[in-house]
Amino acid sequence: MTMDLSLDTRAGLPDALRVLVRELPRTGWQTHPQFHGMVQFWLERHLMFRQLVEVLDTDVKALTEQRMSFETHAPRLSHYGGTLLNQLHGHHQIEDAHYFPQLARLDARVEAGFDLLEADHQAMDGLLHGMAEAANGLLQGGEPGRFADTLSGFAGLLNRHLEDEEEIVVPVILNSGFDG
Ligand SMILES: [Fe+2]
Ligand SMILES: [Fe+2]
Repeated sequence: MTMDLSLDTRAGLPDALRVLVRELPRTGWQTHPQFHGMVQFWLERHLMFRQLVEVLDTDVKALTEQRMSFETHAPRLSHYGGTLLNQLHGHHQIEDAHYFPQLARLDARVEAGFDLLEADHQAMDGLLHGMAEAANGLLQGGEPGRFADTLSGFAGLLNRHLEDEEEIVVPVILNSGFDG
């Protein structure tokens, strides 16, 4: 039986790709001697993406419930939404071009995981595009509901990707001492 591992259907990494995170669970990452540097930096980038999504979500709820005016909301959406889309796009590019090819060679047990993560990035290109369109629709006076729905779908898939990526990448870096 082949598992469907596409970003929009999977509920987490397949067992075979969880081999490293089983050996080195998330709770042990921060105290690992190799945590500071690459891993800390990587996790902070991911945290920033999650925080930007959170801000956009809080804002669009406030707009919908008329606790925030359109005039206050619009520049915030432009700024935080633009930052999220640009930074995420750049982050995927550097992962695909620079980090993943090096990291994929470090532990054969999760090598296939990097193909999965790259496929996620490709899937997310379409999602980023959809987010930009929905944000522009709202900035041009459209209904907040459409953007709120698009954001909520996007947030779920982004979290799936970030969590799975962390469970592959972080143990590889901690085990190898890779520093970029
Ligand atoms: Fe990624
Ligand atoms: Fe990432």
